[in-house]
Amino acid sequence: MNNNWQLPENDPWSTPFAESLLHHLEIRKGDQVLDIASGGGIPAFYLADQVGPEGMVLAVDIHQSQVLRSRTVQGVELPWLRFEVGDMRFLPADLPKFDRITGNLSFMFFRPNRFEALQNLIRFLKPGGQIVLTFPSLGTFDSLWDQVDKDMVALGLKDERKALNEYINERPSASQAEKWLQELGLEKVAVIEQPLEIPTGSGMSFLEHPLLRGGFLDDIYECFQDQDQANEFMNNLSQKTSTFTPLFALRCAISGWMSESS
Ligand SMILES: C[S@@+](CC[C@H](N)C(=O)[O-])C[C@H]1O[C@@H](n2cnc3c(N)ncnc32)[C@H](O)[C@@H]1O
Repeated sequence: MNNNWQLPENDPWSTPFAESLLHHLEIRKGDQVLDIASGGGIPAFYLADQVGPEGMVLAVDIHQSQVLRSRTVQGVELPWLRFEVGDMRFLPADLPKFDRITGNLSFMFFRPNRFEALQNLIRFLKPGGQIVLTFPSLGTFDSLWDQVDKDMVALGLKDERKALNEYINERPSASQAEKWLQELGLEKVAVIEQPLEIPTGSGMSFLEHPLLRGGFLDDIYECFQDQDQANEFMNNLSQKTSTFTPLFALRCAISGWMSESS
């Protein structure tokens, strides 16, 4: 039995982003909440605890493994919280409307059509409801991308550099997100960015960094056709982390309210 539904204290990535989300979110007992990209349940468990048994939290993730993991953690607790498999970009039209829509570390996965995905999502917001999403915004780890770009130029890696730039330019920015929320007619739009330092060592501790490896370093490997060349490039990069550390992510939280009259 787990009665501690606080955010995990020792999580250096999801928890700081979730703290930004909660900073914007106005949550009340009895609220009906849709939490997208729910993963391991940050912040779905916390929100379910806050809304209490008169409320409800539907937590949706595209990966069944994440949903099963969260259900295992949940056990028989918080029966008004449901983890379900679903794609937040294409939610079923017959889903009810919610008082709050939350998504921690979600907005970057709205691609390829982020505006349309946002538009679809806010259809599930009740009049007077609030949406709050967080994501690492444009500028995240720029010192790393600059070093990678320099190294690619020095080595004459034109195709790889082109792939890298396409990836970098595709990342969502805070100002773009703000503009979209306004274009969609949301009110009291607020967008906040705060730097978050991610400590890393060099060598294998950089290459196998639990956070950097999954979401970011893999994107550099993917710029290469030749994986031996990618490994050599990354090994060299891992030996000069002092040229691009400290590494900063930009922790972005966007919030908007559906008009009471909509
Ligand atoms: C970085 S994790 C964040 C998980 C959790 N909210 C947290 O803060 O720890 C992103 C999650 O988004 C999920 N995801 C990615 N694309 C998705 C989509 N189109 N629809 C729903 N979930 C998606 C992934 O499976 C993953 O669990």
